[in-house]
Amino acid sequence: MSKGLEDVVAGPSAITFIDGARGRLSYRGYDIGDLAARSNYEEVAYLLWNEGLPSPGEFESFVKDLGSRRPLPAGVRLSLDSLSRDCDTMDAVEMAVAALGIYDGPYMSMVDRAASIASKVGSIVAYIHQHKHLLPHLEPRKDLGFAANLLYMLNGEEPDEDSVRLMDVLLVLHADHELNASTFTARVVASTLSDMYSCVTAAVAALKGPLHGGANEEVVAMVEEVRSPDRVEPYLLDKLARKEKVMGFGHRIYKGNDPRAVIIRGFAGEIARTEEQRKNLAILDGLAAAMIRERGIYPNLDFYSGFVLHHLGIPTYLFTPIFAVGRTPGWLAHVMEQYSNNRIIRPLAEYVGPRETTYVPMDERHRGSTR
Ligand code: CMC
Repeated sequence: MSKGLEDVVAGPSAITFIDGARGRLSYRGYDIGDLAARSNYEEVAYLLWNEGLPSPGEFESFVKDLGSRRPLPAGVRLSLDSLSRDCDTMDAVEMAVAALGIYDGPYMSMVDRAASIASKVGSIVAYIHQHKHLLPHLEPRKDLGFAANLLYMLNGEEPDEDSVRLMDVLLVLHADHELNASTFTARVVASTLSDMYSCVTAAVAALKGPLHGGANEEVVAMVEEVRSPDRVEPYLLDKLARKEKVMGFGHRIYKGNDPRAVIIRGFAGEIARTEEQRKNLAILDGLAAAMIRERGIYPNLDFYSGFVLHHLGIPTYLFTPIFAVGRTPGWLAHVMEQYSNNRIIRPLAEYVGPRETTYVPMDERHRGSTR
């Protein structure tokens, strides 16, 4: 038995390789640093689904296809319109992906479904944001790339090149991460031969938790609580003394640097221009240094991502939904890989409950007893 399935190898995969000891990550053999520096959302989605980089012609038609699929079916829009404006955004994403399965219908190919989900999940997040704030529902733009269109729909104006580049980098860094909790969830659902929409709905549910994708929002709350760089040390030491988890730190696989956090920190340094940004970055860096010194635990993907998302105009309550948008190509790649070589995932539990208990009829049980 391994609690939390630590070190358990659950099956073969040719999608993502992590070398936790060396802090290395690659998608289909391509180093994450290289992809973050030179690739973009669409190319990485193609790579994850197709075992190799696209030719220029393949890339052009893939981008065109994804772009044309962005508008949401009327039924999905109506379902989202029915939600209260203060609903939890991740709950709304879950509901909309499940609804998309109903409106896409049963007759699409696996590849078309994957393209539909990946294209529309960005439109879903933007629609929820607009719904919450009574903003006009902008139609997605086919002429913009995925990252640019996402920023356009969220912020209501065409983004500049630097912002598009930053969003692309974030999406690439979030795209896949082997058998993390949400991806494993997606594969478990796929292994029952359930449909792709159900797999992604379940993955979104798993991502929502603060130990997984929800940590990025908690990091912002922590920075607000710390308030100034000189309060970092007492804040952290007190938290550790109370044996509380410090959000945005630690990882099951990486025991040193998480390469994604290192890359995002690099960008955070480049974009920190205002006094407020410099202060917040100093708080984050202070927390990172103190946590490494005190516990040898390093920042993970969720630690600096919120800083960059705020710079892009994204409000905190959309951080985890944007993580979901970024991770969707990875979920879909794993679901397709699971379908292609399937066996139902059905582990065992180590039974630790009572054995051979005798059933006592209701009228013979003592009053007030729960047994
Ligand atoms: N703050 C304080 N102590 C920690 C932390 C942390 N963030 N992370 C790990 N530890 C300690 C933990 O208390 C344990 O100590 P001990 O052996 O004395 O009991 C030791 O380090 C091992 O930790 P663990 O909880 O057994 O590690 P895990 O592999 O089960 O959990 C984790 C991994 C990511 C859930 C955990 O590190 C954590 O809860 N981190 C905070 C939440 C977070 O930032 N999540 C985002 C993860 S990265 C993005 C993603 O993939 O979702």
